[in-house]
Amino acid sequence: MAIPTSNTSNPLTRADFPANFIFGVATSSFQIEGATFEDGRGPSIWDTFCAEPGRISDGSNGEVACDHYHRLESDLDMIQSLGVGAYRFSVAWPRIQPSGTGEVNEAGLAFYERLVDGLNARGIEPHLTLYHWDLPQKLQDIGGWTSREVAVHFAEYARIVTARLGHKVRSVATLNEPWCSSILSYQLGEHAPGTHSRPAALAAAHHLLLGHGLAMRAMRKLATGAQLGIVLNLTPAYAAAPEFEAQARLAEGRFDDWFLGPLLRGEYPQDIWEHYGADVPQMHSGDLGIMAQPLDFLGVNYYSRQLIGADFSGLPGAEATDMGWEVYPQGLSKLLSDLKRDYDLPPVMITENGAAFPDVLSADGRVHDARRVSYLGAHLRAVAEAAHSGVDVRAYFAWSLMDNFEWAKGYEKRFGLIYVDYATQQRTLKDSAHWYRALATS
Ligand code: FCB
Repeated sequence: MAIPTSNTSNPLTRADFPANFIFGVATSSFQIEGATFEDGRGPSIWDTFCAEPGRISDGSNGEVACDHYHRLESDLDMIQSLGVGAYRFSVAWPRIQPSGTGEVNEAGLAFYERLVDGLNARGIEPHLTLYHWDLPQKLQDIGGWTSREVAVHFAEYARIVTARLGHKVRSVATLNEPWCSSILSYQLGEHAPGTHSRPAALAAAHHLLLGHGLAMRAMRKLATGAQLGIVLNLTPAYAAAPEFEAQARLAEGRFDDWFLGPLLRGEYPQDIWEHYGADVPQMHSGDLGIMAQPLDFLGVNYYSRQLIGADFSGLPGAEATDMGWEVYPQGLSKLLSDLKRDYDLPPVMITENGAAFPDVLSADGRVHDARRVSYLGAHLRAVAEAAHSGVDVRAYFAWSLMDNFEWAKGYEKRFGLIYVDYATQQRTLKDSAHWYRALATS
């Protein structure tokens, strides 16, 4: 299987995308903000997790990160200099409610209001995500997402943020990648809180989706005009040979349909429910109806595929990113056409796509990240083709605006269009940033 890279003989332009298609860049609060102890922010599960020896591969934490909290204005200018039409960011729940419930911290709301106002003033659409994994530690102390109560608290937090900012932002996503904040965090132990229990992970997933549904209801009542939705990381599974078909179905069902089913059909996929046996979550009657609130958009994060029954690195032409993830843009094409075929699909935004490579600042003062340009080009081409074949895809956000704290990999993995020198906090536009600006403004 050859892996085509971007077709450079026929460069992409805006004209390859639907009219009004939006090009943006994305970040999340814990990965860039720093200032974890300032202006009344409470501790989050990621502060706790980073403090546990061995959790983060370079032993780092989020205390400084990209120092974005202190550099808001110049970072906004930097986003504007990219010529993009939209910026996706997340709100840190512990800045808004330091204990996760009750008391609201005005300084936290004021920070995000400055961010949103600054974007609007620069003509950049704000796209807000409510939960990109930094749960207030106080809520972990009562069980985190394994506790049903946390779903109710989440809806109240969503109401607070949307009441203040909902009329000034283009979209509000409830959750970022609930697969990660449940399975990866409670079963595989790689993310906070780092436990190893499948029933706990499935309970967490259930309560995340319940929290999503309750939040959607609360936000709809406010009718602020913002588009409301959710962001999933979707990863199509391929069988390396016919004898792996059943395993591939299972892999995709657990990863994708377990979340898509409740959201878009009001039911868990039957085959996966049976596969999980006694580990399935405890449901209350009505839960599935709450989860399946109408969505104004589905956010899709795509990085790679799952290949079942073989190691992709043995395939001819195989290419891996610095995360060890296969470069496989065809997977995005398949994902989008499968979604359209299998679900009653709301409008789609590609809310994350990008790649880590071991970038270096060269003597000429630039970062020559040709592989990222090729990765982004190939995936954007897949998006353009999907739009032509009738998938209603309206936006694309490159992950990420700038290099940042890559969770359990610390600062070792660089996903940015902009290079960050962490010692000086100097930002340098990589070649990919110049390339992306040329596309977005073409
Ligand atoms: C996604 C996360 C994002 C970033 C990228 C590389 O799973 O949503 O925060 O870490 O992966």
